[in-house]
Amino acid sequence: MIPHSKPTLDNRDCDAVLEVLQSGQITQGEYVKRFEDKLSEFIGVKGGVATNSGTSALHLALLALEAGKGDEIILPSYVCTALLNAIHYVRATPILVDIEPDSFNLDAKRVKESLTEKTKAIIVPHLFGLPADMEELQSFGIPLIEDCAQALGATYKGKQAGGFGALSIFSFYATKVIASGEGGMVLSDSPHLLERVRDLRDYDNRDNYRIRFNYKMTDLQAALGISQMEKLPSFLERRKVIAKRYSRELPNIPALLPPEYPDRKHIFYRYVIRVEGNLERLLEQIKKEGICCERPVYRPLHYYLGLSDFPETERIWSSALSIPIYPSLASGEVTEVIDRVKRLIEER
Ligand SMILES: Cc1ncc(COP(=O)(O)O)c(C=O)c1O
Repeated sequence: MIPHSKPTLDNRDCDAVLEVLQSGQITQGEYVKRFEDKLSEFIGVKGGVATNSGTSALHLALLALEAGKGDEIILPSYVCTALLNAIHYVRATPILVDIEPDSFNLDAKRVKESLTEKTKAIIVPHLFGLPADMEELQSFGIPLIEDCAQALGATYKGKQAGGFGALSIFSFYATKVIASGEGGMVLSDSPHLLERVRDLRDYDNRDNYRIRFNYKMTDLQAALGISQMEKLPSFLERRKVIAKRYSRELPNIPALLPPEYPDRKHIFYRYVIRVEGNLERLLEQIKKEGICCERPVYRPLHYYLGLSDFPETERIWSSALSIPIYPSLASGEVTEVIDRVKRLIEER
């Protein structure tokens, strides 16, 4: 079975973790600091605060902006529930908006229609590794939290995704662009916001009391994150090569392939094609042939909240098929994916 996603790990990763283990200093320490410096330097912002997940990073980013009860936070419906959870953690109100049909990202026109006096922030996921239209979203003058969980290394107009918002968050979950097992980070160019996030991450030995969290990353995770970060250029290159093969060898099937945007670098965290007909059945058929494909978003958020009128989200959800793409996917496996997916779609 070819899995849909998989971490890409090697002996250097094992050595990096072993070194920390043998040092005896296994909780948050020097490696976490080094990982924070490395990522913030790469993105081109002042600093970063590592956390134990992307969700906790989002939670702290919202708290840094002082989002709370009565505030509205805008986000797309077509995204995972981590965002909804973080908004509910701070007791703010989620305002879901529809997506653009081609980029699968937030539709800026819909965002504009949803702005009110209560809008505190907009969470902007760069879904599947393609940056959202940052210029348009920035023009509203509302603080943006860029969700780069799927977009480490993507660029918009030549600048790294994660360098546009008031804050940005990353995830290093096992199958993300780089992995630390579980893990996340908040980045910002604002020393003030970074300080707030840093203060909230850790509760121990404080002179004053406020509700704080234990959201720390361990040095074991940070060592793995640093080791993976060193391989980021080769990871991105491999994703590009696989995506190019898919785009070259799949175009004559009755499916829509990802479009290209000259001003954005897509890192192909997911390679998502759009097919007609019964998606569930197709997923089953492909699985029977030994390939695991998935709906790239399990369920749109508006379904969970009992809302309607998200036509593009529904169209995409019922037709989007994510096929395997990750650095450790071998060339022979790519050929198998192309042959079987092509045949099954053509036979429908
Ligand atoms: C777009 C997006 N945001 C946030 C998250 C949450 O990250 P984590 O699983 O590390 O909490 C994910 C993870 O799946 C994600 O895909």
